Amino acid sequence: MMPFETNVTDLDAIGLRRSRRKYLSTPMTQRTVDYLKSEITKFNQDSGLSIFLLEDGSQAFNGITKSYGMLKGVRSLIVLKGASSDAHLKEKCGYYGERLVLDATKLGLGTCWVAGTYNRKDPVFKCDDDEEVICVITIGHVEEEKSMGEQLTHKLTHRKTKPASEFYSLHHFDEKAPEWFLRGIESVMKAPSAVNSQPVHFVFDKLKHQITAHVSGKRPTDLIDLGIAKLHFEIVTGGTFALGNGGNFYHENYKNDFS
Ligand SMILES: Cc1cc2nc3c(=O)[nH]c(=O)nc-3n(C[C@H](O)[C@H](O)[C@H](O)COP(=O)(O)O)c2cc1C
Repeated sequence: MMPFETNVTDLDAIGLRRSRRKYLSTPMTQRTVDYLKSEITKFNQDSGLSIFLLEDGSQAFNGITKSYGMLKGVRSLIVLKGASSDAHLKEKCGYYGERLVLDATKLGLGTCWVAGTYNRKDPVFKCDDDEEVICVITIGHVEEEKSMGEQLTHKLTHRKTKPASEFYSLHHFDEKAPEWFLRGIESVMKAPSAVNSQPVHFVFDKLKHQITAHVSGKRPTDLIDLGIAKLHFEIVTGGTFALGNGGNFYHENYKNDFS
């Protein structure tokens, strides 16, 4: 249960979310912290990850001023980590991390995925030898409107969203893609991705009766972006993806369209 009434749905949150890089000093309330922690416990049970909320992780952001992002006033962090031996570690961090980002958006909080501009060697991230921190998400209260600095950073990091047609390929199709599939693609266009690379490509093959989602894997963050994109597509269409690069999509209602 959310710590207070909100009419904001997951779908709304997908549309409302933007990366926010300047945080107010007001800490999150205990109720919000408790709620986020309970969500994290649930997601860790589902996934085998060991995500945790660091209420004050500001020291890992000290001294980083000129690099990409220029985050300001960072205090609380969601640290995404898990077993190095988990073949799907990055994808799961993307999937469950974005789940938490949408939860935070519904509560009116700002978030930003951060893979680069923080000190990952800081002792606050110390973990077991068989574990790995994949990246973090900054979280906290923000001004309603973006500050000038934030707008500038947004311009530097946010290149235009690619046209929808570049997010998918249709194989063995005589007609247009079904509406529900295009709605899924639209939600993926709104997803955050590292340096706004938008690397996830969907293939809808009518002959093989399958929809799959792929990344080239050229960037170390591609598999995180894959997990994020799969979550958005699932939320909007109501189906589920198998884990993995090239994982299959399944939806009971649309099985005549594919499998
Ligand atoms: C995996 C991942 C890593 C990211 N790393 C950083 C980062 O290190 N610094 C930063 O300022 N933004 C980072 N971002 C945020 C992206 O720049 C942002 O999502 C993208 O420019 C699209 O803008 P939007 O989130 O406002 O839609 C990252 C996003 C993702 C998904």
